[in-house]
Amino acid sequence: MTGKSSMHDTLLVTGGAGFIGSNFVLSCRKSTPFSVVNLDLLTYAGNPANFSELDGDGRYAFVRGDICDAGLVAGLLDEHRPRAVVHFAAESHVDRSIVSPEAFIRTNVYGTFTLLEQARLYWMGLSEADRAAFRFLHVSTDEVYGTLDADEPAFCETTPYAPNSPYAASKAGSDHLARAYFHTYKMPVLTTNCSNNYGPFQFPEKLIPLMILNALEGKPLPVYGDGKNVRDWLFVEDHCAAIFTVLGKGKPGETYNIGGNSERANMDVVTTICDLVDELRPPCAGSERRQLITYVKDRPGHDRRYAIDATKIMRELGWKPAEKFESGLRKTVEWYLGHPKWVESVRTGAYREWIARNYAERLKI
Ligand code: NAD
Ligand code: TYD
Repeated sequence: MTGKSSMHDTLLVTGGAGFIGSNFVLSCRKSTPFSVVNLDLLTYAGNPANFSELDGDGRYAFVRGDICDAGLVAGLLDEHRPRAVVHFAAESHVDRSIVSPEAFIRTNVYGTFTLLEQARLYWMGLSEADRAAFRFLHVSTDEVYGTLDADEPAFCETTPYAPNSPYAASKAGSDHLARAYFHTYKMPVLTTNCSNNYGPFQFPEKLIPLMILNALEGKPLPVYGDGKNVRDWLFVEDHCAAIFTVLGKGKPGETYNIGGNSERANMDVVTTICDLVDELRPPCAGSERRQLITYVKDRPGHDRRYAIDATKIMRELGWKPAEKFESGLRKTVEWYLGHPKWVESVRTGAYREWIARNYAERLKI
């Protein structure tokens, strides 16, 4: 023993006020014995209102702060003695990384380094038993693998990295650091690479919530390029279940690909959303939402197809996605239609400025 107190049943979650982090924190407090300390800078993508149902929960603490702040991270680790760090915090939107890449390098690369390094210093001071039980789970993306042609096999854990956007490159850099901390220091690091998520609390700059809200409000539905780019969609609750599985059963030093086995072309996703919104909020005759679909100028370097081969996590750890894309999309549309106050609260002036900036040029085709 080192004289320090031992680890507690606490998770230090970073970026827990964002889309996936919020779903993870809520499900953690509902369905596990873990306490949660949520460290989040509350950038435009973070929303503390996601946690109103945890008001008065003595096993949940929110800390507004930056993962690049080594002193803050060290203090939180020392005070709360977590048994795991679950690292979601990131700049996460490809379009923003094309317009302003610097924040992506800072948070995704330097921020991940800062967390890894402070976690290593904390971990080295633990007892041998606690050192063996500690986990650092780094949440990453399938975008690090680059793009697939229509007939290529899905990404597996051994697919070479070939990131194409500044976002993907910054996540690839963070994955390499996570890998190095296991190989060099033997810190028990796990990495998950996940496909596109959808579900409640997703910031409406991403495809699915943007299309739901624009369809509801009768605004154009901007489809990039020919609309045939393919993503492999995963319901966010399935992603959270996979993260719990990897935390509990994953082998330190390993990476696990997580996917929904639901490849869909963007145009198919958008038309399905139109039909769901028409069904749930019937339009006047002749104003069906599909008419709002507008082809716009493509994203530079737009990856054609992502697809995940999740055989490893399914075979070795026993996880599989529970939600079918069509039922998950219906739940998601219903959630956005049922939470107008949440939607209003995230569409601040900064959001409107981003939408105007991102789509102004694209619409000129
Ligand atoms: P998000 O953009 O919705 O949330 C990111 C959160 O991180 C926000 O709450 C933000 O305030 C916080 N944050 C940003 N910079 C910070 C900093 N410097 N310090 C502390 N907090 C900071 O992102 P998301 O969609 O929930 O993604 C979470 C993680 O999952 C990311 O690492 C992302 O790369 C990964 N991922 C996302 C998807 C997806 O489809 N959304 C798919 C695969 C992997
Ligand atoms: P997005 O949700 O930004 O996720 P990612 O780029 O990480 O896959 O985009 C999903 C797909 O939808 C991608 O192929 C780009 C496309 N897209 C549009 O066609 N129009 C839009 O307005 C947005 C935001 C995305």
